[in-house]
Parts: sequence; C-alpha cells; structure tokens
Amino acid sequence: MSSAPIFTLETERLLLRPWRTSDRIAFAAMNADSRVMEFLPSVLSRDKSDRLADHIEEHFQRHGYGPWAAELRSDGSFIGYIGLNVPPFEAHFTPCVEIGWRLSFECWGKGLATEGARRALRYGFETLGLEEVVSFTVPANVRSRRVMEKLGMTHGDADDFDHPGLAAGHPLRHHVLYRLKRTDYASGS
Ligand SMILES: CC(C)(COP(=O)(O)OP(=O)(O)OC[C@H]1O[C@@H](n2cnc3c(N)ncnc32)[C@H](O)[C@@H]1OP(=O)(O)O)[C@@H](O)C(=O)NCCC(=O)NCCS
Repeated sequence: MSSAPIFTLETERLLLRPWRTSDRIAFAAMNADSRVMEFLPSVLSRDKSDRLADHIEEHFQRHGYGPWAAELRSDGSFIGYIGLNVPPFEAHFTPCVEIGWRLSFECWGKGLATEGARRALRYGFETLGLEEVVSFTVPANVRSRRVMEKLGMTHGDADDFDHPGLAAGHPLRHHVLYRLKRTDYASGS
C-alpha cells in the first residue's frame, strides 16, 4: 500500500483530482452511454460503474496515482477520468503503466483529453520517474489513437496484442499498443 498523498493536477481548463462519492452519478451516466462505450465490451449498469469507481479508488490507495477524476475548472463539473493505470493483466508489455481516458460525450472534440493527458504524462515521467508509458485501444478507436499520437506516442505493428480479458473471437479482442519512452518524452518537450 502507498502512503503517498493523492495530488491534484491542474491544467488550463481541468483539475485532475481525487474521486468524490458524488462523481459516481455522472460516471454511471457516462458508462451507460453507448457512444462513450462504443469500443468497450458493454455499457455498464450503475452497480458495475460503482465497482469500477471502487477499483479506481483502490488503485490510488495502492499506487498513489491512478485515473484521476477530471473536473472542468469553469463550472466544477465532473466529466470523466484521465490518468495513469497499472493494467491488472499479463501481456508481452507488462508490467507497465498505461495512460487512459474516458470523457462524457458532451465534452468531446475540445482537446480536453489531450490537455489532461499531457499533464498526467508529465506527472508520470517527471514526478514518478517512469521509464515508459504505454496506451492501448482497439484499432477502430481513432479518437483515442489520435490522442495517443498527439502525446507523441508511437505504434508498431509488432506490439499489437489480443486483450487477455476478452475471449477468443470477441470483436474487440485485438488491440494496438502505443509507447512513449522517457528519453523521447524529454527530447520532445
Ligand atoms: C477518446 C476520448 C477521450 C477523446 O476525447 P477528446 O477530448 O475528444 O479528445 P481530443 O479533443 O483531445 O482529441 C481528439 C482527436 O481525435 C480527432 N477525431 C475526432 N473524431 C475523429 C474521427 N472520427 N476520425 C479521426 N479523428 C477524429 C479530433 O479531431 C482530435 O484530433 P485533432 O486535435 O488532431 O483534431 C473521447 O472520445 C472518449 O471519451 N471516448 C470514449 C472512451 C474511450 O474510447 N476511451 C479510450 C478507451 S482505450
């Protein structure tokens, strides 16, 4: 268990902060939205959404960082998560730290995921001292892939993998992996 405090990160338009119980209502609404969940195995019930929030909070307790709750500074609303996660499965690139995001549909297309992810990446490399951060999604998730590219992450076909959490033949099983090494991050900033 980590005893480190959970830091709040700031960007021009966002706070990446610890989760609050009150975030769970808006989080469940996002997770029940088929547009948000298009490239994930299924929409989530309120119960499953709450369990995911529990897992995220446990991740913060264990590691001191995680997928932060993303709050719009302009009006204080919770709009989803952006942050760092240690995947719980084994694959050719694990153990690792991944960067990921899920925002409510109304907030898409304004550069918010990229803005928050840049701050989370900086935390990963400069505060945590990570050597590498990865990210992954299904090939068709072009929005998410574009965020990865804007962060300077690169993809090689040899890194593609089948997600161990999904059964053989599942249409979302095949994933692309993007990587960013600390040395490339430092030279690009
Ligand atoms: C992925 C997600 C977080 C992106 O959030 P966002 O705040 O809209 O992202 P940004 O605005 O920072 O960047 C999105 C980029 O995708 C581009 N884009 C959007 N729709 C696109 C499309 N249909 N085809 C190609 N590019 C597209 C945008 O133009 C933008 O790139 P640009 O800045 O070069 O123009 C958001 O769509 C989301 O929450 N999706 C559902 C959850 C999800 O799939 N999470 C990832 C699972 S691995």
